[in-house]
Parts: sequence; C-alpha cells; structure tokens
Amino acid sequence: MNAEFLPLRGGAVIIGAGLAGLMTALELAPRPVVVLSKGPLGGEGSTLLAQGGLAAALGATDSPQAHAADTLRAGDGLCDPAAVEFFTDAAPAAIEILARLGVRFDRDANGAYALGLEAAHRSARIVRAGGDGSGRELMRALVEAARATPSIAILEGVEARRLIVEESKICGLVASGPAGVVSLAADKVVIATGGIGGLFEDSTNPPTSFGQGLALAARAGAALADVEFIQFHPTALDVAGLSPPLVSEAVRGEGAILIDETGERFMADTPGAELAPRDIVARAIWRRRAAGRRVYLDARAALGARFATRFPTIAAACVANGVDPAHEPIPVRPAQHYHMGGVAVDAEGRSSVAGLWVCGEAAATGLHGANRLASNSLIEAVVGAAAVARSIETTSSREAKLPRALNRPPSASDPRSIRPLLSRAAGVERDAASLRAALAPLAALARSTAPSADPAAVALTIVAAAFRREHSLGAHFRLDFPQRPAAPRRSRITLDEALATADALAPVALAKRA
Ligand code: FAD
Ligand code: SIN
Repeated sequence: MNAEFLPLRGGAVIIGAGLAGLMTALELAPRPVVVLSKGPLGGEGSTLLAQGGLAAALGATDSPQAHAADTLRAGDGLCDPAAVEFFTDAAPAAIEILARLGVRFDRDANGAYALGLEAAHRSARIVRAGGDGSGRELMRALVEAARATPSIAILEGVEARRLIVEESKICGLVASGPAGVVSLAADKVVIATGGIGGLFEDSTNPPTSFGQGLALAARAGAALADVEFIQFHPTALDVAGLSPPLVSEAVRGEGAILIDETGERFMADTPGAELAPRDIVARAIWRRRAAGRRVYLDARAALGARFATRFPTIAAACVANGVDPAHEPIPVRPAQHYHMGGVAVDAEGRSSVAGLWVCGEAAATGLHGANRLASNSLIEAVVGAAAVARSIETTSSREAKLPRALNRPPSASDPRSIRPLLSRAAGVERDAASLRAALAPLAALARSTAPSADPAAVALTIVAAAFRREHSLGAHFRLDFPQRPAAPRRSRITLDEALATADALAPVALAKRA
C-alpha cells in the first residue's frame, strides 16, 4: 500500500459531517480539526432529512425534569438516568447555541419558539424550522458556519476505512478519497458517522448510512452497546423503494389519526392512541399489515387544506406519489428509522478505545434506552458534540507517532447482500429461529474480505445481541419471549463476542442440516 501520511496541524480528526460532526468541529474552534465528509459537504446523511425538530423544555409550563420523565418512560426502563438528566438539562441551551450559529427556527407571533407535539411527549416541546424542514435548515446554517471557521479543514469526498490502533490506543486512520488511499496520523479521532438504516431493505435513512462508524469502532476493538434496539418509524409513506419518505410524527401531533382500509381507528383503545410510544404504534401497524390490511394516516379533519403550509416537504412527497393529503388518507407502513444502540460511550463521549470519541447517532450514550423519544436525537447530537469537544480539549496529546501502514487498504463497502439477511432477522418482531439463521452467514462474511464484510460485522453484532436478549423490551420484541424483564439491563458486545456467539451455534446448525 502506498500510504501517504497527510500532514495534520495537530488536533482531532472528525469522521462524518452531519450535525454531530460539524457541531464537534465548531465547538472545538479555534483548535484545528480535520473533518472527513464521505459525500459533498451538507449533501449526505440523516440530519438533512429531519422533519419534526429538536426536543427541549422551552414551554412556559414545561421543565427539563418533565422532558426527562417522558424520555425515561418511552425508553421502557433501559435509559441511563444520569445521561437522561444530562441531555434534557442541556437541551434548552443547545437550542440557543444553534440559534446563535444562524439556525432560523420557526417562531410564533410573539417571537417565541413555535413548539410542536410528538408521540409520548406530555408537553409541546419540539422546536422546528421551515415547518417540516428542520434538518435542511440545521445543515444550511452549520455548513455555512463551518466553512467560515478557519480552524476547520474539511476533506470532502473522503471516506474513513480503518482506524489504526497501536498499544490499545488510536494512532491514525486510513481513508480513501479523490487522491486515492491516504493515512492520517492522529491520536484523537471522533466518529460521527450517523445511523445504520442502509443495512435494511426498508428505511427512512439514506441508503448511504449503513453503520460505517460502528464497523470502524468494532474492528478497532471497541465495545458496542444496546445494538439490538432499533427503532422502526410507524409512518413511512407506503411507496416502493429503499428509502420511503417519512410522514412525520408531528402530523399525528397535529391530530391526524391512523385508520385501516375499512376506516377503523385501530389505535383508539391504546393508552396514548396515535401518540403512544413509537414502538407500540409501529408494532400495531406491522401486525395489522401482516394480517393483510392496509394502514393510512388520515389528516383530513385535523389539517385539511392547512396540510401543505404546515408540512410542505411531506405534502410534496405525497403529491409526487399521487396522494393528496388534504383530501385523502395517506398510505403508511413502518420502516427502520433510528438506532438506539451504537458505540458504547461514557458521559464525555469516550469509547472503550483510548483516543476514540463518538457522538450523534453512532454513539450509545444511554439517553434512549429501549425506544427513543421522538426528536431526542438531534438534541443528543448537539449536546453530545459539545461534551466530546470539552473532553478532547482536556485530554493531553500524545507524542505524534506515525502509524505503521496497513498491508491491504480495505475496499469500499457494499451493504446490499446484508439487507435481506438483517431485515428478516432483526425486524419489528424477532424470534430465535430467524436470528439464528442469520448468524452463520453474517459471521462468514464478517471474516471475509468481501465488500460486504464491514456491513456484515455490524449486522452480526445486532443479530447476536438480539439473539442473546431473551425477553421483550421497547423496540426489541421477541415473539418467542414476549415477557418484559423485571430489571432491564443495558447490553454490551464486541465483534469478537458476536463472532463467538455465531461459532457456538454453528454445530447446532450443522447438526440440524445433517
Ligand atoms: P448524519 O447526519 O447521518 O451524518 C453522518 C455523516 O457521516 C454523513 O454525512 C455521512 O456521509 C458521513 N459518513 C459516514 N461514514 C463515513 C465515513 N466512513 N467517512 C466519512 N464520512 C462518513 N431526529 C430528531 O431528533 N428529530 C427529527 O425530527 C428527526 N427526523 C428524522 C427524519 C428522518 C427521515 C431521519 C432519517 C431521521 C430523523 N431523525 C430525527 C434522526 C436524526 O436525524 C439523526 O439521528 C441525526 O441527524 C444523526 O446525526 P449524525 O450527525 O449523527 O449523522
Ligand atoms: C418525525 O418527525 O416523526 C421524526 C422525529 C424523530 O425521528 O425524532
């Protein structure tokens, strides 16, 4: 390998340029940082697609304690209470930081933040921008701020492929970009690579988000946490294709109801009805569809002609797919949406590998538990980025040491062959048979040098953790173990442990085949 070691001006390397990555870079200014952006800056990732907004206790009768209580309730007993307190306390100030950076939030007639309601929130506390264009506005403002900050060097079209670890510490990474394969020497690396939706057949995430950060961390030996907890959004637009457009929960927050093709409002008797926690609504829709019914979101009475002004992005997506949301019910289906799990981090965003921090959706901070409360992830990215920046600032740098070049640069990943395997095994409902069936093929691919090796490694940790969790909790629903545990516990898994789980079951699979 002809590794060119890029000269860095000291400082951290941040992998990913969504909300979490850009906020980390801005929080570290004027310290020099290098940000790697796989796609064109501001053109890729989940942040761009966010509709609903950011949860923060800003209403006159609201409080961070009430926000924390709703987060804990939605998380179904698995949240880390200290993390919940930390993030919900910091949320109102984080909104002010974003506003100072130039984010133009929607305001009411008095100039106060316009606050929306989403599922499982007992107060209106969702701060938004552009009606349903919150993510677009966040990225517009932060890209502008980052480009105007001299300490931030952005390498566009550059993808991190491997972390280099020596003596159990991060000492650099290998990346691929327009100039070919390069190696960067760095003793402080931040993973901010977003979600895993691209590992599924049906996801609201862009297909380009397929857990690259989890693969980087897992291959470097870092522990992952709660990876079996995957959120399925109840209401993606029911159209063909890999990334169905989202129909925001805020539409239900405005009073839209769920019906089937007979017009029955099937959530009416569930506590919270359409605004019950997301896992409950997603399962109800999933089961109705499995029974051969179609499910619709009916916003005619609640919004009618107001739909297009309150939700311009969703209205446009509906119209593009032949649905007029003002006058007809919108066909919907659940789709993978968010990963509660990720790289295990402490309160400062430190992973279990020295020199490696993680923030945004790629991190498992303990905030979300078994089911994320709506609109808690953008706020987690902002608050988590600031915590990572403070931690990096107070960590002394080691003597710069050029890492040894890797023998073989890893090739670009391709998750396509993993999608059917993971979708069958770790969907809305799981059982031992479907999980076990995925373990051996995923382990074999994860050990290979195929383009699917890294996606397989991430999928394997998810399937192994889901297989090991023999009960149902939040978004993890086991058909064969429907009971809830008395004392829910968070999970941790490494890639080696996931491989060992698969290997331990291999003789059973072989014996069954014989
Ligand atoms: P991202 O924004 O996904 O950014 C990750 C970046 O890393 C991308 O630019 C990607 O290209 C880059 N990258 C990945 N791998 C590499 C690599 N190897 N090298 C270099 N770069 C790499 N949450 C809310 O709180 N409120 C909402 O209203 C909301 N709405 C949503 C709507 C949709 C349709 C979706 C999909 C999600 C929504 N979420 C919402 C969730 C939220 O948007 C995400 O959790 C959040 O934006 C994640 O931010 P991030 O910075 O961690 O990742
Ligand atoms: C939505 O707008 O429904 C998505 C909000 C979220 O994922 O937090």
